[in-house]
Amino acid sequence: MSLYDYPRYYDLVYGSDWKAECEFLTGVFDRYVDGKTKRILEPACGTGRLMFRLEREGLLVDGLDLNEKAVTYCNRRLIKHGFRPSARVADMTDFQVSSKYCAAFNTINSFRHLEHHAQARDHLRCMARAIRKGGVYVLGLHLSPVSGDPVEEESWIARRGHLCVQTSMWLVERNLKKRYERFQMRYDIWTPTNHQVLDDQFNFRTYSQHQFEQELLSEIPKFEIAATYDFSYKLDRPIHVDQHSEDVVYILKRV
Ligand SMILES: C[S@@+](CC[C@H](N)C(=O)[O-])C[C@H]1O[C@@H](n2cnc3c(N)ncnc32)[C@H](O)[C@@H]1O
Repeated sequence: MSLYDYPRYYDLVYGSDWKAECEFLTGVFDRYVDGKTKRILEPACGTGRLMFRLEREGLLVDGLDLNEKAVTYCNRRLIKHGFRPSARVADMTDFQVSSKYCAAFNTINSFRHLEHHAQARDHLRCMARAIRKGGVYVLGLHLSPVSGDPVEEESWIARRGHLCVQTSMWLVERNLKKRYERFQMRYDIWTPTNHQVLDDQFNFRTYSQHQFEQELLSEIPKFEIAATYDFSYKLDRPIHVDQHSEDVVYILKRV
């Protein structure tokens, strides 16, 4: 069982921050993509909470995700809003595209689901093939800082109509040598007549700045770092990434 098998709850739990992300993404496309941005790809699109909103901005957005339930949910919503069902089931480490994209985005750590170096490298290679020269890949992930305690616990509540979901997420184990963090995630779901609890555990691969930039990205010479931001998504406030940085959004330019 994975919490990604419950797209309705996922979408509620992660749905609220869309405005800042969408504005940031369209701003990044305007500023960093050479020429006009039209076709976009979201690998690991999940429920596509950003896809239909970017379509509303006039962009053509395709998505791919391993989870069939999330893809079905995503396509249903795209159709409901009058757009193409443009998400498909595919593995972001091994996919082909029929024509190249101007830009792509992958925020909130989905990239860190790729637990092994070869998977991360294969994903970046696929992305380099999928994006045209002069395009960008917007990749957001938490780095593991070399000192200080990174955030280890989060809890928040989201409501839609009569549905209320409290999400709690906490670190179970961190092994920086073996390069993983194991998280436990719990949904407490309330409807007027029921209370249900769903539990899940998953691993994220860990990256220091050096591991991401020097050990991984340097293997993909078709991507260069054009700018870096943090998860506050302020286009006028790029950040300088160093070994103490945590949340980083890399703007990778396809050269
Ligand atoms: C945190 S969700 C993010 C969904 C979406 N990008 C968003 O911002 O709401 C992570 C997604 O990554 C997907 N995923 C994990 N590994 C994948 C892989 N190898 N290929 C494609 N999708 C994958 C999961 O199925 C899940 O939907």
